[in-house]
Amino acid sequence: MGESLMSEDGVNTGRRKFLTAATSAVGAVGAIGVAVPFVGSWNPSAKAKAAGAPVKANLEKLEPGQMITLEWRGKPVYVVKRTPEILEGIRKMDDQVRDPGSDEPQQPEYVGKEFRSIKDEYLVLLGLCTHLGCAPLFRPEVGAADLGGDKWQGGFFCPCHGSKFDLAGRVLKGVPAPINLEVPPHSFEGDFLLTVGVDQEA
Ligand code: FES
Repeated sequence: MGESLMSEDGVNTGRRKFLTAATSAVGAVGAIGVAVPFVGSWNPSAKAKAAGAPVKANLEKLEPGQMITLEWRGKPVYVVKRTPEILEGIRKMDDQVRDPGSDEPQQPEYVGKEFRSIKDEYLVLLGLCTHLGCAPLFRPEVGAADLGGDKWQGGFFCPCHGSKFDLAGRVLKGVPAPINLEVPPHSFEGDFLLTVGVDQEA
């Protein structure tokens, strides 16, 4: 059948025209096919730039013991204003956490190791559990019966599989999450102006 088409000029010409048309159509589709990934790969990077822009927050009105959630790069960022009592409670949890000295690098270098913060009173954490990425709940109540009673000095509880973290984001021993909650790059201007996404200058 193909042979007979090739041997008859009239039909062959017609078919060639059709093929030419089909080829241009394929060419056009091909061109779109090339253009789409190009646009597709360009747009996300432009979007990523916008999404990755630093986020600023004025913490002046944040009450002691209160938490707010910011959004940075599509991720929740928890900011907690800690009191001297909370800081003391963190110390009391040293023997319950896996990495009391914060030696594993889930935090920028300029963040103090003891309280995992630039300023002791402000904790800044990514609100993503280091097990499988759920958002841990803020559970600041000291002595919460469901979280260890007397031992619990306040922290975060992941409802997905039960991981617990203290109010420095340090992971407790014996839970599914393997490492501390991450401290994102951040910086302060003056006492209250927090920028997430920009490193603190030395
Ligand atoms: S995702 Fe948090 S414990 Fe599994």
